[in-house]
Formats: sequence, C-alpha cells, structure tokens
Amino acid sequence: MLVLGLQGSPRKKGNTEFLLELFMAEAAKLGAQTHITDVCKKHIEPCKEFTTCEKKGFCPIKDDMDPEIYPLLRRADVVVPASPVFFYNVTAQLKALIDRSQTLWARKYRLNLIDPRRKMRRGFMLSQGATKGKNLFVGIDLTAKYFFDAVGAKDEGSLYYWQIEHRGDMEKHPTVREDVKAAVAKLLAPFLGRKKVLFACRENACRSQMAGAFAQVLAGDRLDVTIGGSEPAAQVNPLMKTVMAEKGIDMEFIIPQSIEKAIEGGNPEYIITMGCGEACPFVPGAQKADWALPDPAGKDIDFMRKVRDEIEEKVKAFIQTV
Ligand SMILES: Cc1cc2nc3c(=O)[nH]c(=O)nc-3n(C[C@H](O)[C@H](O)[C@H](O)COP(=O)(O)O)c2cc1C
Repeated sequence: MLVLGLQGSPRKKGNTEFLLELFMAEAAKLGAQTHITDVCKKHIEPCKEFTTCEKKGFCPIKDDMDPEIYPLLRRADVVVPASPVFFYNVTAQLKALIDRSQTLWARKYRLNLIDPRRKMRRGFMLSQGATKGKNLFVGIDLTAKYFFDAVGAKDEGSLYYWQIEHRGDMEKHPTVREDVKAAVAKLLAPFLGRKKVLFACRENACRSQMAGAFAQVLAGDRLDVTIGGSEPAAQVNPLMKTVMAEKGIDMEFIIPQSIEKAIEGGNPEYIITMGCGEACPFVPGAQKADWALPDPAGKDIDFMRKVRDEIEEKVKAFIQTV
C-alpha cells in the first residue's frame, strides 16, 4: 500500500512540510509505504492547453510529469496533496501538477480507460493559511475534489487549519497530532485487512502486469496487489498495453520493478509466478502457485490476446479462493 504525499509549499521546514510529514509518519506506523514528492523541485510546466491529451491521452510536454509523477499517481493507493493557502488556492507549483493531471482525466473520461487501482484509491487534502475567514479553504476544497476525480481517487476529506502563518505555527497547534492520528487511522482502515498478493515474472513487463491489473480491477477491495520481476525491463510491453486497452484497462505510466521493491511494503501471503522459472525470494509462510503461461514477448497480437484471456480466467478463479 503506497501513500503518496505531494508537498506543495516552496518554504523549507514550513507549516505544510510539518503537517505532511506528521501525516506520513502516522501512515508508516500503520504499515504503509510512504513517498513524498517535493513538487516545487520538479519544475512542472503549467498546462499549455494543446488538448493532445483529450485526443490521444498523452501530454506533449514530456519531461516533467512522465518519468515520475504520472507513474507515482498510478501506483499510489492514497494521494495526499498538501499546500499553504496562496490567494485562496494551492500554490502555483502544485496547481501546475494538478492541471497537468488533465492527462489522467482525459484517459478516464475521453478514452474511457479504467486505471486498475481506481477501485480503492483514496484522496485526502491537507492545508493551512494565515487568516480566519470562513471561506479560506473553499477554493482549495473544490480544486482537491476535482483533482481526486481526475486521478481516480475517492475524496476522503481533509484537514484544514486557520491562523497558521509563521514557520513553527503548525507544530505548536494544540490538536494537530491527535487530529492527524485519527484521520490517518480512519483513512487507512479499509486498506489494512486486505490480503497481500505478489504477481511475479521475469521482466515484469507483460504477464505479471496483466495479472496484477485484473486482480486490482476485480478484487482491489480485498487484495493488496503488488507486481515485480526478477530482471525488470525498462518498460512494459507495448502490445500488452494495446490488448489491455481493448478490455478497457489502462496500463500507461506503469514502470516494471524488481521483486524486492515490490515486497518492500510487507511480505505477501500469496506469490503467483507466470511460468518463466524466475528466482523468487523466500518468503516465510507465503502460499506459492505457478501458472505456467507461455511467454507472449515477440509474438503477434492474437497470441497476446490469448495469454491475456487466459490470465483473466486464472485471476477470476484465484480470487474465488482468497
Ligand atoms: C504568496 C502568498 C499568498 C498567500 N495567500 C494567503 C491567503 O490568500 N490567505 C491566507 O490566509 N494566507 C495566505 N498566505 C499565508 C500562508 O498561507 C501561510 O503563511 C502559511 O502558513 C505558509 O505555509 P508554509 O510554511 O507551508 O509555506 C499567503 C502567503 C504567500 C507567501
């Protein structure tokens, strides 16, 4: 389970940083993997409204969001943007990232593709500002709500703090620690009872990715799915993306990873390999199965479709047993 924090304040050791780090530390205590992206260091270009994403599902501005931010937004189970109030909204740096998530909005609403983790993903907003007007967070609240929709996350609420201005103010707030602890416990509760399943193959580019995606789409509420390879490839198989898109499942912005990385968040209870004889690390107590699937790499699209369908059937049968 990955909790992704988006730190939107340019001020080092400021109020937002304190609030987000507190939140992530509580999530880690409950067993989550956590990652904070310092948005202001990413130099994200504002949306230039080329509208290519609405037609093709890609942004022509490639270097800032594609290598890391879109993949993280896809991998995350929980997305936590955090920002000070700047003129009644989030900072310009975080807003640029939010506007560029239009690519994910377009893949969802224009291309009608399902992001595999969409069933479970949650969003939670953190913010604070200097003044005390009742409308201080109205703009941020709406921005967060529509950002969560674009990235396929259910809006699970927010923590907002008024009259926080100088460095150290947030830290001195009398209830912040107990507020954060209670909010994180409530937010992560539905994730904690899920059974961990690792789907593994050699390159983590094709068969294990398809299996993991089907398992998430069909049973992401019961299974904490992780996916890895013993020798991860640089990218997933393009033909695999095409045949999964035929099923309405979006495999864009997924990067192969090692088995060690895949199980960093905790040992799986089930390990399913795809028949490529890869070396899996010994995980005490894990139930193992090997699906003995043929390798579709280098074969034609019909072969890829057959393997996809076989994997779908195997995943359907597997989820009945867990
Ligand atoms: C450019 C700018 C705009 C701001 N706009 C607002 C505002 O509209 N309302 C408000 O209450 N505070 C506003 N503030 C104050 C910040 O929200 C406040 O100082 C906050 O605690 C800074 O958080 P940080 O330490 O995480 O950067 C603004 C501050 C700056 C620098």
